Amino acid sequence: MSPGGRRAPESDCRLLILGGPRAALREVIIARCPGLAVETRRLSDADVGDAAERADIILGWTIPPEAARRARRLRWVQCLGAGVDRLVAVPELPADVVISRVGRGFGPAMAEHVLGYLLALALEVPRALDQQHRRAWEPYSAPLLRGRTAVVVGLGEIGGEVARLLRAAGLRVLGVNRGGAPSPHADETWPVAALDRLLPRAEILVLVVPLTAETRHLLDARRLALLPRGAWLVNVGRGALVDEPALVAALRAGQVGRAALDVFEVEPLPADSPLWDLPGVVITPHVAGPDDVAHVADVFAANYARFRAGQPLLYRVDRACGY
Ligand code: OXD
Repeated sequence: MSPGGRRAPESDCRLLILGGPRAALREVIIARCPGLAVETRRLSDADVGDAAERADIILGWTIPPEAARRARRLRWVQCLGAGVDRLVAVPELPADVVISRVGRGFGPAMAEHVLGYLLALALEVPRALDQQHRRAWEPYSAPLLRGRTAVVVGLGEIGGEVARLLRAAGLRVLGVNRGGAPSPHADETWPVAALDRLLPRAEILVLVVPLTAETRHLLDARRLALLPRGAWLVNVGRGALVDEPALVAALRAGQVGRAALDVFEVEPLPADSPLWDLPGVVITPHVAGPDDVAHVADVFAANYARFRAGQPLLYRVDRACGY
């Protein structure tokens, strides 16, 4: 039986890989899942709806609404990464289609990204590169990260690893999760309801939560004003966790002193976004999560075996919760 309770087709199971590193994934998946017919399409391909109509399984970040409407054979969508916001936001996707995500394996790389960019901000790496570019010898002193207080919002596989690494670097870590269940990686753990009380302590604020209806604009103008003046922000979750115009205003006013931003409300970040030019801001193009074809293929192959055997899928998403 399929995860939706219906029998998976025995011989003609079809996978559509939609977007992402299609050719590389196709090659590995064909080798790992014999008998599975694999098609690939770009999201923008004119015949994406035809391909979706034939698919039992889709592997991708999202599905164009019209293609989702036509995907009548579809039983299961495996997301290419950890965040499924662009899949659960497709109302055309029938309610009985199971969504799974890449539930493990992102923590180490994303935690290194967070620590690495915090160190880059603390060590004034952008300034050093600018001076080098200008051949200018202008000594400065860099502040230490050690001893500062970081609030890490989200303590799942990724946030837990972020907290662990920041603590190892000598920061005091206040972790935030849904219910405040203690985390071994944080000095203190608080429920999200206590966020307003924690923000005044957040010399550094790290966002590692999924984007859901509840977390959209979690960091708005009111909450930005609760931070200590000059606080630093790292966002590796989703752009829409932050009210971007409010962040721009807070950066301009010095309320937020520095920021390492990997995700944005609109991606690619539009060329006319003020964020590009603001001093103290380091922008990376949504690269904190590794684009690891072998790992995605491992998760897919394990789940495909379960799908064929009628077993529950790994890392199944609760579509109502949005993660
Ligand atoms: C993810 C990402 O969600 O890389 O996996 O953004």
